[in-house]
Amino acid sequence: MSFPKVRMRRLRRTTALRQLLRNVKVHPSNLVYPVFLDEKAEAPVPVNSMPGVYRLPLGKVVDEVQELTDRGVCAVLLFGVPATKDEEGSSAYAADGVVQEATRMLKEAFGGGLVVITDVCLCEYTSHGHCGIVEKNEVSNDVTLRVLQKIAVSHAEAGADVVAPSAMMDGQVSAVRQALDEHGYSDVAIMAYSAKYASSFYGPFREAAGSTPMFGDRQGYQMDYARAYEALREMALDIDEGADIIMVKPALAYLDIIHAASQRFQVPIAAYSVSAEYAMVKAVAQNGWLNESAVVNELLTAIKRAGADLIITYFAKDVNTWMQSK
Ligand code: PBG
Repeated sequence: MSFPKVRMRRLRRTTALRQLLRNVKVHPSNLVYPVFLDEKAEAPVPVNSMPGVYRLPLGKVVDEVQELTDRGVCAVLLFGVPATKDEEGSSAYAADGVVQEATRMLKEAFGGGLVVITDVCLCEYTSHGHCGIVEKNEVSNDVTLRVLQKIAVSHAEAGADVVAPSAMMDGQVSAVRQALDEHGYSDVAIMAYSAKYASSFYGPFREAAGSTPMFGDRQGYQMDYARAYEALREMALDIDEGADIIMVKPALAYLDIIHAASQRFQVPIAAYSVSAEYAMVKAVAQNGWLNESAVVNELLTAIKRAGADLIITYFAKDVNTWMQSK
């Protein structure tokens, strides 16, 4: 008779045993909640493809974030939906722009109790919807870098703790680092959207932020998902350029990239679980086809297990409630 000597089931017998042995835990303090600020809105505007997500008027932002901090989430990522757009996306760096104003309000209300991260990009602010300055039908890398510098400095002036360049221009991290340092903001950190793929999972975000490109697509600057090694090179370059945190985006279809990054680099890794990852779960849950809280716990745990230190997720607000009700 050869019954098994090693029995894996021994350690699965009770809830307490299972909990004792868990070494991957999603905690609200490792989550970042994206916030859309709409300069024109007078009341919260629901985003159709993202049930539960709203574009907020400035007057509502402090209350919204209070709800988050009450639940243990202490970081937000701010996106602006400006009242006016132009070719240069000039409202992106206006001192009284919607992200700059929100940053001031949040820092005044929460001080060091909240990490304010700002998205540094042009697509929400340009009339053509591209992430940079267009010249001869192409996004011009180096001209865009100068504008990204202005945006980052304006966010730092408003009090941002972390700026997050997301335009996928070459050299954007060093350009932003240099501009911040020159203006006396050497303490402001950079979270680099390092491995940002040209993904179809951004659809609902583009509705939320009004940032769909008017012509062409973003494949000329965002990464091709069918190329395996490019991500590691992008991340290594960003670390070299001074990134304090690197990011992989989207998250779910890119767990291999998150894992490879966590094995290779000793810097904090953020994973952005993007708008369609949220929308897919919501849509299925609305049909009653799955248990939303259980699925979200499983997905966020998987992202963490792959190697992410922090997760940017539209579910951030709900996680603590769900954990407590378990
Ligand atoms: C662009 C930006 C995008 C997202 C975050 N920053 C969209 C894009 O590249 O088109 C997408 C986030 C999401 O889908 O949740 N600056």
